[in-house]
Amino acid sequence: MIFEQIATGGCQSYLVGCESSRSAILIDPEQSQVDRYLGLAGQLGVHVRYVLDTHTHADHFSASRELGKAFQAPVVMNRLSPAPYAEMRLDDGDMLIVGNLRLRAMHTPGHTRDSMCMVMEDRVFTGDTLLIGGTGRTDLPTGDPEALHGSLFGKLLALPLETRVYPAHDYKGRSHSTIGAEIAENPRLKNSERAEFVAMMQHLDLAAPTHLTEALRTNMNGGRTVAQLLADAATRVPFVSLAELRARIGRQDGLIVLDVREKDAFEAGHVPGAIHLPRGQLELRVNAMLTDPTARLVTCCEFGKISTLAAATLRELGFPRAAALDGGMKAWIEAGYEVELPD
Ligand SMILES: [Fe+2]
Repeated sequence: MIFEQIATGGCQSYLVGCESSRSAILIDPEQSQVDRYLGLAGQLGVHVRYVLDTHTHADHFSASRELGKAFQAPVVMNRLSPAPYAEMRLDDGDMLIVGNLRLRAMHTPGHTRDSMCMVMEDRVFTGDTLLIGGTGRTDLPTGDPEALHGSLFGKLLALPLETRVYPAHDYKGRSHSTIGAEIAENPRLKNSERAEFVAMMQHLDLAAPTHLTEALRTNMNGGRTVAQLLADAATRVPFVSLAELRARIGRQDGLIVLDVREKDAFEAGHVPGAIHLPRGQLELRVNAMLTDPTARLVTCCEFGKISTLAAATLRELGFPRAAALDGGMKAWIEAGYEVELPD
């Protein structure tokens, strides 16, 4: 069996493949690691046949949609998943065949309504239903502590004690556990009484995950993360360093610095000679303000992010020489470079 566990900031994902057929499945891939999964599949010489999410993640950005396209493989989720891009939806007991591997879906609602565990030979991918020394929380959208009680005590924990547990998260760098070890040591499983389990889950008082809204927006609806939008824009524009721009100021070589911040920020100080065109008005005023489509343009904002989006938009609008400043006014000022104030 080919088995790669990819950990990123507490998220665990898995690339599991069949040695002889070189086919594989990718489980719970995370957005920031897209290039890593693609590279790993190539390095291992496997063909990823399925990209699977164990549930609708509320705390990380799923890369399933993007990787499903890249690998030309269906995105697999539980049949109750709201994700419009989930092409293959599994019922409880459905099995995926990956070469000579067989993965059986066990519907385990509770953490979310669409949570499922995938049982394969000596191991189970538990998603957030069962974590090492913990369980998924039940206070986020579609969470249900009663359902989690049933999924754990009525289903998952009935697997053989030696079954290896591979969760979707671990924040302490552990790779796996076993069903037996969790039954013996997991504090959340100490009390199998339904009412007491439910009361415990209802009183955990956990802080909301950092990117809850963005995760639900992207994972449930197939939207894109802000980081993705920025990364995409950054691949479409070249950058100019702060030092390069500073060296060119006053040279009269036709370089136009376009400050895309709001008026107040611009008036508080800008790159000498910069002209002001807020990003919100870019498309509306571009024709009047930038009359030469062959001009060399450098966009500038506060932190270097909005300016990247603005430069990408300018290129799309037909300014092929638009670039973005690598950094923004914050870094410019920190570097001690000259700032111009309005007259
Ligand atoms: Fe989760």
